[in-house]
Amino acid sequence: MKKNYVSMMGCGLLLIAMTACGNKAAQSGYPELDQWAQHVNDVKVRTIGYPCNMNIELERFYQWYTANELEKIMLNNVGDPFSESDGFSTNSCKFEREVIEWFGALYGFDKSEVWGIVTNSGTDGNSNGMYFGTNYLKNKTGKLPVFYVSDEAHYSNARLADVMHLELRLIKSDRMGRMIPEELEKNLDTKRPALVVYAFGSTFRGAIDNIDSLNAVFARHPEVEVYRHVDGALFAGYLPFTQYRELIDKNKHNYQSMAISGHKFFGMDEPAGVLITSKDVYAAQSQFKIAYLNEDMKMISCSRSATDALKFWWLIKNVGEERWCQDATLMLENTQYLKAKLDEIGWPAWVNEYSNTVFFRRPSDEMVKKYSLANNYDEQFGGAISHIVVMQHVTKELIDQFVRDIQQ
Ligand SMILES: Cc1ncc(COP(=O)(O)O)c(C=O)c1O
Repeated sequence: MKKNYVSMMGCGLLLIAMTACGNKAAQSGYPELDQWAQHVNDVKVRTIGYPCNMNIELERFYQWYTANELEKIMLNNVGDPFSESDGFSTNSCKFEREVIEWFGALYGFDKSEVWGIVTNSGTDGNSNGMYFGTNYLKNKTGKLPVFYVSDEAHYSNARLADVMHLELRLIKSDRMGRMIPEELEKNLDTKRPALVVYAFGSTFRGAIDNIDSLNAVFARHPEVEVYRHVDGALFAGYLPFTQYRELIDKNKHNYQSMAISGHKFFGMDEPAGVLITSKDVYAAQSQFKIAYLNEDMKMISCSRSATDALKFWWLIKNVGEERWCQDATLMLENTQYLKAKLDEIGWPAWVNEYSNTVFFRRPSDEMVKKYSLANNYDEQFGGAISHIVVMQHVTKELIDQFVRDIQQ
C-alpha cells in the first residue's frame, strides 16, 4: 500500500508537470506514432457519423492504474464471473459482477437473477446472446431454431447466423426501419423454435423494433418456443436515462438477453460491451466442464478483459446516473436542434422517435470526410444519404458549423 501511495504521488507530480507546461503532445521517439497521435486528437471532435462518445473521462483511471503498476500485471477475467470458486488469481471478477448487477438493474433484472459478462464489443454481446439463445432452444426442444431479424438491423446479426449455420429469415422493415410484425408472421416457421433479435435501434435509421407488437405475433403461435435477444448497442445505453426508460424494461417487454456497447454511450475509450441475461438462461446452456478453470465455461470466449471491467466500474462511480441523465437529455435535445436546422435550410432530413440519429440527403464527399459521416444508399429517401449520430460531443456549436458548411 505504501509503495502504491508513493508511486501515485510520483505519477501525480509527473502529470502536473506535463500539464503545467502544456505538454499534451508527448514525444515517443517515433515520428509516425506522434503524427498519428496528433491526427486523432485533431479529428476526434468532428467525428460525428458514428455512435461514439468522445467525451471520455478516464484520465484519473489511467493515473490510478499506472500509479499502482497494474500495467505490469497480466490481468484476465477468465471464467464465469459469478462462479463461487477461485479461478485465475489476477482477475477483477468482483468488479465485473458489480458492473453486471448495475446494468441488470437498468433493464429490470433483479440482482438475484441477473447473469452476464463484460464483452469485447456489441457484436461480442450479440454473439454470446445468439449462441445462448440457440443452445437454450436446442436443449429445450431438441431442434435448432430459425433465426429472425429485420433487414435494417446491424449486419453483425446476419453474419453471426452465418457463423452459427442458422437458417436466417431477414424480415422486411417499414420505411423508417422497424421490423414489420405482419412480415414476421408471414415468415414464421411454426414447426421450429424461433431465435429473434430485436434492433434497439437500427444502425442507420435509428429505428426501434416494437417489441410488444412482435411479441404479440409469437403469442398467437404458442406452439413456437421463442428466445428474444435485444441488440441494444447504442439506444439501450441512453434510453434508461430518459423519460422513455420503460421501453427497455424487460419486465414490461419480454426478452431474455441484451447486448450493449460500452464505447457508444458510456464513454469507454476502446471497443467493449456488456451482455446481460438471467441465471436461468445461463443454467440452460450446454455444459462445458473445464477442470483447470473455475467452473463450467458456457460462454464463447475463454479470456475476457479485466481492465474493461474496471473501467466500466470506474465510469459508473465517477460519471454515473445523474450525469448520464443530463447527457441523454441533451443528446435528444441536440438531435431535434440538428433536424430543425436542416429543415430551416430545406435539406431533406429524417429522424425516428426516441432516436439520436439524423439521416439526410448526402452532402459532398468533402463534407463526408471532414465530419466522418457514415453513408448509405436508399431509394426510399432519394438515393444517397448520410447520417449523424448526436452523441455527447456533438454540441449546438458544432451543429451550427456543420449546417453552415453544408449550405456552402
Ligand atoms: C445496432 C447495432 N448493433 C451492433 C453494433 C456493433 O457494435 P460494436 O461495434 O460494439 O461491435 C452496432 C454498431 O454500430 C449497432 O449500431
